[in-house]
Amino acid sequence: MGSLMNEILALEQGDNNLSQQTYDIFARTFNRLITKITPNGIFSYVSTNSEAIVGYSPQDLLGRKFTTFLHTKDRNFIQKKCEEIQHLNDDNLFTNTFRLRKKDGSYIWIESTMAFIYKQDSVDPVEIVNIIREVPVEHDELFRNFKLSVVGELAAGIAHEIRNPLTSLKGFIQLMKSDRNMNEQYLQIMEYEIDRIESIAKEFMYLARPTDTNYQKNSLQTIFESCMSLLEGEAFQSRVTIIRKFFKEDVFVLCDDQKIKQVMINLLKNALESMDQPGSITICIEKRDNKGCISIKDEGCGIPEEFLHKIGQPFFTTKQNGNGLGLMICYKIIEEHNGDIIVHSKKGMGTTFTITLPLAASE
Ligand SMILES: Nc1ncnc2c1ncn2[C@@H]1O[C@H](COP(=O)(O)OP(=O)(O)O)[C@@H](O)[C@H]1O
Ligand SMILES: [Mg+2]
Repeated sequence: MGSLMNEILALEQGDNNLSQQTYDIFARTFNRLITKITPNGIFSYVSTNSEAIVGYSPQDLLGRKFTTFLHTKDRNFIQKKCEEIQHLNDDNLFTNTFRLRKKDGSYIWIESTMAFIYKQDSVDPVEIVNIIREVPVEHDELFRNFKLSVVGELAAGIAHEIRNPLTSLKGFIQLMKSDRNMNEQYLQIMEYEIDRIESIAKEFMYLARPTDTNYQKNSLQTIFESCMSLLEGEAFQSRVTIIRKFFKEDVFVLCDDQKIKQVMINLLKNALESMDQPGSITICIEKRDNKGCISIKDEGCGIPEEFLHKIGQPFFTTKQNGNGLGLMICYKIIEEHNGDIIVHSKKGMGTTFTITLPLAASE
């Protein structure tokens, strides 16, 4: 994609103005939507193949503002980025992935490469060339990949969790073998260890299984505790204490417990990963304004202000082995549930993620 843009830019520079026919040929040959946008963000050219890609004909789009076709969640970010970037005169090519609304009202994920065109001696760009293609990964595909990666990540921790009870089981069997005697106390410990392995295996299977959304009345406290049974070991190893500040009764929300569990696990993992020193994570579960509410507050590295608007964008990660999909999935799941997710963070001071979900109707 970058190379098509480079080709166009080189021609623009040589020719000083490519004809619309040339753009149309590029658009059709490379199966891209090519548009030109004025510095005020108005479409001034749209390639003739637009209808096949976004449903809109060029006439539908010409004269209208580019950003009105973006998903509301992506609009500010793209707008801000355009403003930031157009006055940096060096590398004025930039590529972003975001959602575009099609004529039928549905959204597609697109990859857009924009280039700011300057004429001699001008500080402000005269126009923006924007090459767009639909991103081939389906949302569901991202979801599946993410799920696999969480399972993969957890697998290492789980292997560790299971090894301890197995070692103890083996030890007691050996003891009883050499004693030639059934020891009631040993048996009790063994049973406990087997239960522990069983519960870990159960959690793991639960998470790995593909599911449709299945809304039921669930207690936030119960969902949280089942996540903790998977992450307890990791918290302990990082010397992080989990502090629970729970409403006196169960807070019942209408949700798919597996999906909300996935959200909690991801937020808890991020919280743990943000802390490189011993400390605590505070979980608060309460009812607020007729909503069920859970917040996860860590004492970790925090999120610098300049990154805050990227939170929830796919592939944004600051971690060496991160995939930057976790939060996007969290946002998607919470949106699906008609809930809200907000983040408060200060660099060096820690982060709080708060989720609110509709309360389940009491019978
Ligand atoms: N609790 C947190 N504290 C600090 N930074 C966070 C926290 N949660 C998320 N982030 C930031 O958001 C980025 C994206 O998170 P996520 O989507 O879960 O992907 P990943 O964990 O794979 O990086 C992280 O790389 C990190 O920079
Ligand atoms: Mg993560």
